[in-house]
Amino acid sequence: MLIVNANVEEIIELDNQIYLLKIFSPEIAGSIKPGQFVNLRVSESTYPLLRRPFSVCDVEGDFFYIMFNVLGEGTKTLAHKHHGEALDILGPLGNGFNLEGDFETAVLVAGGLGSAPFPYFIRKINGSKKILSFVGGRTFREVITYGMNNILTATDDGSLGFKGNVVELLNENIEILKSNKIKIFGCGPTPMLRALSEFSIKNNFECDISTESAMACGFGICQGCPVESAKDKDKFLLVCKDGPVFNVKDIVL
Ligand SMILES: Cc1cc2nc3c(=O)[nH]c(=O)nc-3n(C[C@H](O)[C@H](O)[C@H](O)COP(=O)(O)OP(=O)(O)OC[C@H]3O[C@@H](n4cnc5c(N)ncnc54)[C@H](O)[C@@H]3O)c2cc1C
Ligand code: FES
Repeated sequence: MLIVNANVEEIIELDNQIYLLKIFSPEIAGSIKPGQFVNLRVSESTYPLLRRPFSVCDVEGDFFYIMFNVLGEGTKTLAHKHHGEALDILGPLGNGFNLEGDFETAVLVAGGLGSAPFPYFIRKINGSKKILSFVGGRTFREVITYGMNNILTATDDGSLGFKGNVVELLNENIEILKSNKIKIFGCGPTPMLRALSEFSIKNNFECDISTESAMACGFGICQGCPVESAKDKDKFLLVCKDGPVFNVKDIVL
């Protein structure tokens, strides 16, 4: 894990008030894996006090990107960054996705901002596996397909693609999934991950999910990000250190 003082290269506003922050950091860009995250101090002042965690969205040369929308003070501050501003960053953090394994198609399942880690995932897979992406949101405004491939979409209100949630869309395509050697990789809100876990276990699909939790330290010291272990009911795992990526059979959401 590194603590780096990195510079903002550019902030890019995509559709739907989604931002990409491009950051110059050869150290982090050269060492981070898909599914890992960084913990950013968003301002040089003491407010907001806590760092904010973000998945690495993509890496290009010495630059890496994060993708976010404005929720509160931290992301509002980030959205107003300019070229050359310094950012204090802790990373790479967490375990990341395991891209190895005996599967031919990576089935990516994203809800809302859950698509954030997948552009880098796809870049790293680099054609060695097929990609099939299922991307969902409540309305078309929340369907974020940036950097993704071979996409099927779902919206709760039917304003884009399949009418229903993204796990229901997977179920609609169950025959395609069963006829391929797949592994599912999911990222999104907890209710979606819970439904995806149930779907994967029921159908015997290998599935890893990237989970979220409120965080402080980001590297296992404060014990502030527990998730219940499925294997040992008295034990808690830490999202920041043991995750954020877990096999669906290893945790109780
Ligand atoms: C491992 C990890 C990776 C993440 N990757 C990304 C990413 O790639 N892109 C991204 O946009 N966000 C990501 N997040 C979530 C991001 O950290 C929060 O959105 C951010 O901290 C919000 O900061 P804020 O100061 O703007 O909002 P706050 O003022 O902290 O919160 C504003 C509102 O948003 C709610 N909120 C805060 N965090 C979350 C959350 N995680 N999920 C749902 N609601 C939340 C709060 O409850 C509150 O109502 C990730 C979180 C984790 C743990
Ligand atoms: S955020 Fe401190 S232990 Fe996970």
